[in-house]
Amino acid sequence: MIGRAIDSHSCTMSRYTMPSLEERYQNSRQRLVAFGQAHLLTFWQSLDDRRRSELLEQCETLPLEMLRGEFGAGVVNLGHHARAPHKIEPVTIVRAQELDAAKYFAIGEEMIRAGRVACFTVAGGQGTRLGWNAPKGTFPATPVLHKSLFQVFAESILAARRRWGARIPWYLMTSSLNHESTQEYFRKHDWFQLGEDSVRFFAQGTLPSLSVDGKILLAEQHAIALNPDGHGGAVRALRASGSLAKMRSEGVDTLSYFQVDNPLVKVVDPLFLGLHVSHPESSGEVSSKVVAKRDPREKVGVFCRQDDRTCVLEYSDLPTHLAEATFPGGGFVHSAGSIAIHTFSTAFLERLADDPNGLPLHRALKRVASVDLTSGQLVDPPAPNAIKLEAFIFDAVPVATRSMVFETRRDEEFAPIKNADGEDSPTTSKLAQSERAARWIESCGIEVPRDEDDGACLATLELSPLTALDPIDLARRSDLPRHIAIGASIAF
Ligand code: UTP
Repeated sequence: MIGRAIDSHSCTMSRYTMPSLEERYQNSRQRLVAFGQAHLLTFWQSLDDRRRSELLEQCETLPLEMLRGEFGAGVVNLGHHARAPHKIEPVTIVRAQELDAAKYFAIGEEMIRAGRVACFTVAGGQGTRLGWNAPKGTFPATPVLHKSLFQVFAESILAARRRWGARIPWYLMTSSLNHESTQEYFRKHDWFQLGEDSVRFFAQGTLPSLSVDGKILLAEQHAIALNPDGHGGAVRALRASGSLAKMRSEGVDTLSYFQVDNPLVKVVDPLFLGLHVSHPESSGEVSSKVVAKRDPREKVGVFCRQDDRTCVLEYSDLPTHLAEATFPGGGFVHSAGSIAIHTFSTAFLERLADDPNGLPLHRALKRVASVDLTSGQLVDPPAPNAIKLEAFIFDAVPVATRSMVFETRRDEEFAPIKNADGEDSPTTSKLAQSERAARWIESCGIEVPRDEDDGACLATLELSPLTALDPIDLARRSDLPRHIAIGASIAF
């Protein structure tokens, strides 16, 4: 422990002194031995004082007590920590067509106008599947102008500010891997006209990567291998960064949460917000949007009920017979696919952040380059060799007393960019963006060329959020083209 240099009462130098490197070493060693992690000091003798100090700093902040259960566990124990088998029941799904949508929409609009709503994007991931060598939000995502994901969200927020005359601050969670480069990107683009003061970045925490036999890995002889602590790390990071306090001071009590990879997201959705605060299925703590799963095998998390709580099961945790179960009248019983769009009350996030246990940690087998303890050399393994620990934001759902699940249309709101090709790739997302633009344009009475066989739009269309946030918005415009030619590539 580092002692206080100044006695706060007498304002004179206290007798506390900084512990020496040797004292710190002995303290850390003792602590690491107790948790079976003393190998982290293997190269101590060959390090200079600066590197020794850096290594000790990392050892001193390792949350070893919290991670106790992870050490020594084998690779067989992947995924969520084994839960006793609970009965899995279907969740109640709220649908717009079954309620007075206009009433809830008006409530949500009022919340936005009153300055109660902020946007929150988690952008700390590594984006390994996409293979983009920069923050994922900088990826060129749109079909005609190749705007980045960040630009699409920024334009949506700007359009929402104009429409509802509200401030709508934007919080972005980065990680140590992309914090600087993300901010640099926004600086370079002048914060996309949003104003520097209202775009707020903070970095999430990290957790050590482990070998399959539960030993913390070294990335360098004097540096622990760390990975971002998952999107669930948002709970602690929101609080630790002072963001929750800032929101409170500005009268923001509701967060519109979305991930960095979905250019179709409605960054603020009055209907969803109104339902979150006033629908009987919601306790106003956390609500989620879902889409109907494409088929029982689609690899998305599924909302269900366990122990009288709503929760999200990873697709691998939903037994096949339940995934394929249908209602007597047709339709899958467990169809509520998670799309990682939530509304949170800030009071609920405060409560979660107060919980010393935090959200549970999930384990995933990944490739991590690490220092070989015998040779001291960095080894980049050809295959997954390590366990990364991550918290998932959707584990907040069962903590709420009642959590609303609201079904929306996939083709209107969800086209993520996850993989370099195939499913959920730039190609599929651009197609979905163009198709949505085509539908909105058609709803204004403008003809769009379509394939006679499969109905696919035969032009590439891009609609800026600054042009319209929804089809009604679009219908108000007088500057839309009257004709769209086959093969045209048009941005509105
Ligand atoms: P993904 O689960 O898609 O992970 O993140 P990823 O790291 O972006 O991509 P892969 O798996 O390496 O290919 C979903 C969302 O959660 C954020 C991501 O930035 C994305 O918006 N995220 C993920 C974080 O903010 N922090 C994390 O530690 C992990």
